[in-house]
Amino acid sequence: MKKITCILIALFALQIVKAEAQTISFEFPALPYSYDALEPYIDKATMEIHYDRHFRAYYNNFVKSVNENNLNGKSLEEIFADVSKYSAVVRNNGGGYYNHSLFWTIMAPNAGGKPDGKLFEDIEKTFGSFENFTKEFEKAASTQFGSGWAWLVVDENNQLFILQLPNQDNPLMDISPKKGMPILAIDVWEHAYYLKYQNKRRDYIAIFWKVVNWNKVSELYANALKK
Ligand SMILES: [Fe+2]
Repeated sequence: MKKITCILIALFALQIVKAEAQTISFEFPALPYSYDALEPYIDKATMEIHYDRHFRAYYNNFVKSVNENNLNGKSLEEIFADVSKYSAVVRNNGGGYYNHSLFWTIMAPNAGGKPDGKLFEDIEKTFGSFENFTKEFEKAASTQFGSGWAWLVVDENNQLFILQLPNQDNPLMDISPKKGMPILAIDVWEHAYYLKYQNKRRDYIAIFWKVVNWNKVSELYANALKK
């Protein structure tokens, strides 16, 4: 009798774990500020189209691809860790969903300037100076051929590094030449800047520093270091 009770309890526990695994769902996050909040650096029309059309399309296509590829129950990090095994639809739209979700949070109105505390110290230690870091990051963003992103990433040894990646790839993906936890990113797809800056990608990259939410980046850095 005892044995049967134990088996029943074990089966019940398994069902709970299974139910929890299946409850992983991907939310469409609200933009944390209004479309015109980053004016004059990033214009209202660009923000509206970027968030409500491009980002929404990545999200919808990703959710659809999760169902079609039997990836229900997996987290984004788990999917990215094996992304080379799945269709390009998962890679492109999963990346588009994650990358933009991060991007909205690391920008803010009345932001910019420099980080403080440990992040500032570690950037200076790694890149020689904060100014040198911005130069290297801008170079990665401006020389990414075609569409893509530039990243500031924390590797497994808690070291900061800069990376450029094409399309919607990101440093969490197994296809990334160097992997780690992203804490800062700039979208250099033309849809991110063309309405206001046309072909002048460098101008858009230069103004990006005016909207970087260093408080959020510092928070992401602290979380990345804990792992
Ligand atoms: Fe974008």
